[in-house]
Amino acid sequence: MPESSLQFSQSLKFGSSGRAIAQEIDDSLLENLFEHLTMERNANVQYFSMSLWFKERELRGFSSFFLRESREEMLHAQKFTDYLIARGYKINLKDLPSPVQEWDSIQDLISFAFKMESDLTTSVEQLYSISERSSDIRTNVFLDPIVESQIKSEDTFAYLLGKIKFAENQPSAVLIIDKELNEE
Ligand SMILES: [Fe+2]
Repeated sequence: MPESSLQFSQSLKFGSSGRAIAQEIDDSLLENLFEHLTMERNANVQYFSMSLWFKERELRGFSSFFLRESREEMLHAQKFTDYLIARGYKINLKDLPSPVQEWDSIQDLISFAFKMESDLTTSVEQLYSISERSSDIRTNVFLDPIVESQIKSEDTFAYLLGKIKFAENQPSAVLIIDKELNEE
């Protein structure tokens, strides 16, 4: 190898996965990105649990809606792992808490889902401000469409919560919403 290219490769940084790193991620940002990854994986399992809760109660429209949400969350988790790998980092998957499986009413369950989405948005916003502070423009650009999709998710669950409140647990109204969700 010519001396000039040897010097060139020696000046590059490599991550724990052995991939070249263009810019190292700030420690606190990295820690928060991994925490957020755990939250997305947790949402995946939590929505799956909700899908089962509805299936056990013959509400198959709600059940398939939550199964779709569960799959979406796995795709979100994958976006974060792809990003971290692209930046040269190795993925450490953490333990997940057991999912909540019991709710007293549909309204309680949907409120729980809405809270989970708003917590995810707060976590993304936190990532956004840390990456801004550490001048990690790459992470800001990566997070932009994620903030946008969080706003849509919050809107979806606020709408569903509004409809369920309006239905006041009347079976005929709940069945209409169930049918609507199945057709989505
Ligand atoms: Fe998500």
